[in-house]
Amino acid sequence: MSAESTVRPTEVVVDARPLLDAEAGVLALAVWPDDPSGADGDDGDDGSPWIGPGGAEVAEALGLDLFAALERDGGTGKAGEVVSVQVYAEGRGAASVDGEVDVTRVLLVGLGDGSAAAYRKAGAALARAARGADRLASAVTATADDAATRAFVEGAVLATYALAGFRSTPVPAAKRPLGTLVVAGGGAQADVVAAAVAVAGASWTARDLAQTPSNVKDPEWLAEQARRIGAEHRLDVRVRDEKALADEGFGGILAVGQGSDRPPRLIALRYDPPNAGPGTPHVVLVGKGITYDTGGLSLKPREGMVTMKTDMTGGAVVMGVLSAVRELGVDVRVTGLVAAAENMPGAAAQRPSDVIRQYDGTTVEVLNTDAEGRLVLADGIGYAVAELEPTVIVDVATLTGAATTALGRGHGALYATSDRLAAALRDAGEAAGERLWRLPLVDDYRFGLDSAIADVAHIDTEHLGGGSILAALFLQRFVGDVPWAHLDIAGPGRAESDKAELVKGGTGFGVRALLYWLEAGAPVA
Ligand code: BES
Ligand code: MN
Ligand code: ZN
Repeated sequence: MSAESTVRPTEVVVDARPLLDAEAGVLALAVWPDDPSGADGDDGDDGSPWIGPGGAEVAEALGLDLFAALERDGGTGKAGEVVSVQVYAEGRGAASVDGEVDVTRVLLVGLGDGSAAAYRKAGAALARAARGADRLASAVTATADDAATRAFVEGAVLATYALAGFRSTPVPAAKRPLGTLVVAGGGAQADVVAAAVAVAGASWTARDLAQTPSNVKDPEWLAEQARRIGAEHRLDVRVRDEKALADEGFGGILAVGQGSDRPPRLIALRYDPPNAGPGTPHVVLVGKGITYDTGGLSLKPREGMVTMKTDMTGGAVVMGVLSAVRELGVDVRVTGLVAAAENMPGAAAQRPSDVIRQYDGTTVEVLNTDAEGRLVLADGIGYAVAELEPTVIVDVATLTGAATTALGRGHGALYATSDRLAAALRDAGEAAGERLWRLPLVDDYRFGLDSAIADVAHIDTEHLGGGSILAALFLQRFVGDVPWAHLDIAGPGRAESDKAELVKGGTGFGVRALLYWLEAGAPVA
């Protein structure tokens, strides 16, 4: 069995020539809602949408009345709406342009308010509509700025994600992603499109890791994937096995992993930008890498356990991010740490009430073995603070059900020790289509982690509620005075259905936000 996706993401090329020269079987045009100001060339608020650049030429060359088609299908130009127009020529299945490729379909794609978010939706909807096609030429971005073009391409590549490596029969052609998206009609910069492809590719990588079932995926498998990614993208990869973890005192990772006969790992991937100097900032990303979370002896109920193969999504996000930083020309050092363990209720498992010693020496009373994520993260953070001279630490984790209760699946919970860092991450998420909402590190909840016998308890012993906040407060103990942010992605880390650019299952949430933030130079303070 192979975990490799045999479904390849859509390839994207830029072609400045007109749409009809792109030799594509499917064409796509922008549709804008009626502009009541009359700036669309009609007499104002007539309620009818209009078709963007390239429309007149396509209609003429193929003998189509595109406005009639829009009207017949009730097209309004709202973001992500797609009206498909079949093309028939006399005696044949399709009209041939210049005797070359037959055009079989024209897709009319709504752009709504023209925001980057609308372009992202449009790209996603177009890619879904074009599943199974070989080649599609789009003039949808003809008047888009760079941010919108990027969102459009990201949406298009993200939306048809699939992991096919576990099927014994190939995915039917009609369900495969569009082969090639030709970004035509002028305007688009090759570097903008390349950046979009890199970000979407990183998200595919993270989702492949998250979707892989846990009979295949254990900590060593994750380490092997990190080595593969490192070799492919020229990153230094170092893996600590259980013996190294024990020698160096990674008590949290070991405690969580000790109930499984598949031992834990700490995976480190390092990127140095081409002209790094002594003053180059160093971002450390720490990902929760629980390859399966049964809860341990504090066993989860059966329904709650089924999705827990994705409990290493934070780690997958870190690996996805590292896979793209070189391609994106990120100008800061980045170290990704993945604290990988399988949380199982084996005979050697830790017991609720055990006291363990974290990497930094803090002793922790473990009162619920299902709150395992914070224990592995605390070691990763403590190690980063002690050994890596980080400028900033950001951890990413499917940490608490409480974060989902608070914010649902549409927002990740964001915590930060600096307002500027919080704002920078939130803005990056907003631009990238991954919304983050800041929650407070409430000072007077800290006593909820008091332990009668150790330095700290790792869960709320005072029934304060606010489970995501308490988890964040626990992690904060390990960051010292290093600027730090924490993303609790338990909610948006999974999608319950296919929607816009999301595909049901692990979403890799955080890859896009973190990459946008890193591209901006990882602003902190
Ligand atoms: N991995 C879970 C959190 C989670 C739950 C992620 C549902 C995605 C969906 C985490 O390890 C966990 O079990 N957290 C506990 C903490 C509690 C025991 C303090 C939780 O949220 O119930
Ligand atoms: Mn758990
Ligand atoms: Zn967990």
